[in-house]
Amino acid sequence: MSDRVIVTGAGRGLGLTLARLLSARGDVVVGTVRDAARAPELAALDGVTVEVLDLSDSDAIPARVAGICERLGGVDLIINNAGINYAGVENGVSTLSVTDMDAEPMLGLFRVNVVAPLLVVRGALPWLRASSNPRVVNITSWLGSTGGYAANSSPNYGYRTTKAALNMASRAMAAELADDGITSVVVNPGWVQTDMGGGAKADLTPEQSASGIIAVASGLTSADTGRFLDWNGEERAY
Ligand SMILES: NC(=O)c1ccc[n+]([C@@H]2O[C@H](COP(=O)([O-])OP(=O)(O)OC[C@H]3O[C@@H](n4cnc5c(N)ncnc54)[C@H](OP(=O)(O)O)[C@@H]3O)[C@@H](O)[C@H]2O)c1
Repeated sequence: MSDRVIVTGAGRGLGLTLARLLSARGDVVVGTVRDAARAPELAALDGVTVEVLDLSDSDAIPARVAGICERLGGVDLIINNAGINYAGVENGVSTLSVTDMDAEPMLGLFRVNVVAPLLVVRGALPWLRASSNPRVVNITSWLGSTGGYAANSSPNYGYRTTKAALNMASRAMAAELADDGITSVVVNPGWVQTDMGGGAKADLTPEQSASGIIAVASGLTSADTGRFLDWNGEERAY
């Protein structure tokens, strides 16, 4: 049975590949972008509708997502994929070290990486509740694993803390929404050959990561809610 899916940040990178692979298997997909004019590849995909959603515009998110769900005729799966690292915010380099960090760039990362996924779910909640198999997949990073932190790692406060916070938000949401039958997990996509991943030196092609994430999302049951998984379905330490 095909799913009605919303993928955020679908104009490029992992989000674009997720939208392409989901639509190719027959799902009805909405890919959200900040600027539709910069998403020609997404717009060209069969079975994909492009919607504009700027995840830094917090106040607008729930109503915009509700409108998207209305037009989609419901939603079964939300993939909160959009995310930014320090390079994605103005003066983001000052989120990297405690010696020169500034508040505003770090708060900008929190707005997009942590607050927005929750507001997306808030906007979609009535439609998720009405789905027979409602799932939320929040794309996190191994860099947000507190238990997996290696002492010699780069601190990168902005990115690490937002992904760790997303992990907790997702776990709390899993508990809160369990009675609604909504399954919520965080998935680490691995090191992927995208703009954020730094291109070809990364371990995984977007296709490898996205096909793994889709397999994980497809196989989720209520027993999985609250888990932190890798792109290939392996368990990760919170
Ligand atoms: N690549 C990796 O190795 C890696 C590793 C671990 C985790 N991740 C996670 O995987 C996810 C996808 O990353 P990626 O590698 O595909 O990154 P990417 O190539 O940098 O793409 C990021 C996506 O997020 C969107 N985005 C950024 N800010 C946004 C905003 N304010 N509103 C709406 N959309 C926004 C971008 O849209 P625009 O085109 O408009 O900028 C773009 O579509 C992210 O959550 C990332 O943290 C990636």
